[in-house]
Amino acid sequence: MSGRPVLGLVASAAGGVEGWLRPGLAEPLARQGWRLAVTLTPTAARWLEAQFAELGALTDLPVRWTSRLPAEPKPHPVPDAFVFAPATLNSIAKLALGISDNQALTVLCEALGRGTPMVVLAQVGPDQSHHPAYSRHLSVLRDAGVSVVSGGPGEVLKELSAVAPFVAPDNNS
Ligand SMILES: Cc1cc2nc3c(=O)[nH]c(=O)nc-3n(C[C@H](O)[C@H](O)[C@H](O)COP(=O)(O)O)c2cc1C
Repeated sequence: MSGRPVLGLVASAAGGVEGWLRPGLAEPLARQGWRLAVTLTPTAARWLEAQFAELGALTDLPVRWTSRLPAEPKPHPVPDAFVFAPATLNSIAKLALGISDNQALTVLCEALGRGTPMVVLAQVGPDQSHHPAYSRHLSVLRDAGVSVVSGGPGEVLKELSAVAPFVAPDNNS
């Protein structure tokens, strides 16, 4: 690892993300010293569009939600670790199955294949959690070494410091 460690911060469209993603995760992670590579699902990008400037101000890397053209350079370096928060039922299923039909799932599926440290904050409603495939999808992720948590941003920060202790803890987070 040369320079600041890069964290892939991926968010999907679960309720409340627009309220806590930046203050609860992106800002503390940037303060800790992570270089943030933010990628959003297309729906999360719609929800967070009004915050792109503030999110972008936390990093020198562009906030992504679309794929690059083949002739374009990769906008993000390969991250040293990933946080996928919040993770919807939909995007958890795609990640477990290797479905990479948007830029967020593309980077997550590649990271899973590389064995990159990853924390997933599952945010699914009670009915969604009883979908017959959900528990199998979580098992696939856990068997691949992913840390799946279901609390909130604070739990994500704690878990990340355990699985990817590449930066100093932030006393303000
Ligand atoms: C206000 C609102 C809140 C939602 N909250 C959740 C949620 O907490 N968890 C979830 O899995 N889906 C939730 N959904 C549904 C997802 O947004 C929907 O399944 C979407 O297709 C997910 O896309 P993505 O995984 O590509 O971001 C919510 C939808 C709306 C409109």
